[in-house]
Amino acid sequence: MLLQDKIALVIGAGQTPGETIGNGRATAIAFAREGAIVAAADIDLASAQETVAMIEAEGHSAVAFHVDVRDEQSISAFVNAVMDRWQRIDILHNNVGVSITGGDALIEDIEVEAFDRLVQINLRGMVLACKHTLPHMRAAGSGVIINISSLAAWTPYPLVGYKTTKAAVIALTEQMAALNARYGIRANVILPGLMNTPMAIEARISATTSREQVVAARDKQVPLGRKMGSAWDVAHAAAFLASDRAGYITGVALPVDGGLSVA
Ligand SMILES: NC(=O)c1ccc[n+]([C@@H]2O[C@H](COP(=O)([O-])OP(=O)(O)OC[C@H]3O[C@@H](n4cnc5c(N)ncnc54)[C@H](O)[C@@H]3O)[C@@H](O)[C@H]2O)c1
Repeated sequence: MLLQDKIALVIGAGQTPGETIGNGRATAIAFAREGAIVAAADIDLASAQETVAMIEAEGHSAVAFHVDVRDEQSISAFVNAVMDRWQRIDILHNNVGVSITGGDALIEDIEVEAFDRLVQINLRGMVLACKHTLPHMRAAGSGVIINISSLAAWTPYPLVGYKTTKAAVIALTEQMAALNARYGIRANVILPGLMNTPMAIEARISATTSREQVVAARDKQVPLGRKMGSAWDVAHAAAFLASDRAGYITGVALPVDGGLSVA
């Protein structure tokens, strides 16, 4: 058990409905399987509760919380509730991110409201979660932060809001690592590549493009096995980074992409 009795906050622990499992849900389940007690937070409480039910069905521990990362009050209330209940925060996993569903567009078409929304959800939410969690980790002299960016930050990607916010998440993580190492806190960021998750697939299915076409077009781009990764690939990387096995690793941007970034 890599995370025995650790208190792990997973923000974005529900998931977009769809045929496969999402990154946040898989990560919450993977943390619980490694022995962590998971505070599963999501704007969609019912979806976080589903994740909790899946964890409990396997005999592990989790509690669902309603959190809207656009609202600082909501984040601080969540952190306070966790501290009241467990008196500790060992792991903060920031999974929330939106792209097409956030109204993202090419630079010539982007609307101010959509860009602001993407910054609020993809970047500011992670800044605020770190802001409210770090004092407790610093007081304890330990803690792990994992942020979810995207390979879109490093490789050509057409939509301006997702590209820029996901690049900023890498900078945020590096700064958190640099400024908090003296407190025994590590911060790392995962860059998922092309993953077969509902967030990535459902939004691309249309009247003219079937699920099979979306999946095939993505699969064929991936060097390793000509197949997209799954949410479990992200979850297992996160469980390692959250664990003491990664105790000397901080400030790292880890692609989980089947070799896409080097092909
Ligand atoms: N799936 C991919 O191919 C892929 C690739 C690269 C990066 N990513 C990143 O992975 C992360 C998401 O992966 P996922 O599969 O779990 O997606 P998901 O859409 O299934 O889950 C995200 C969760 O965030 C929640 N959420 C949305 N807005 C919120 C808010 N304001 N406050 C709180 N919760 C909110 C949603 O309700 C949902 O349950 C994102 O950061 C995304 O950018 C995914």
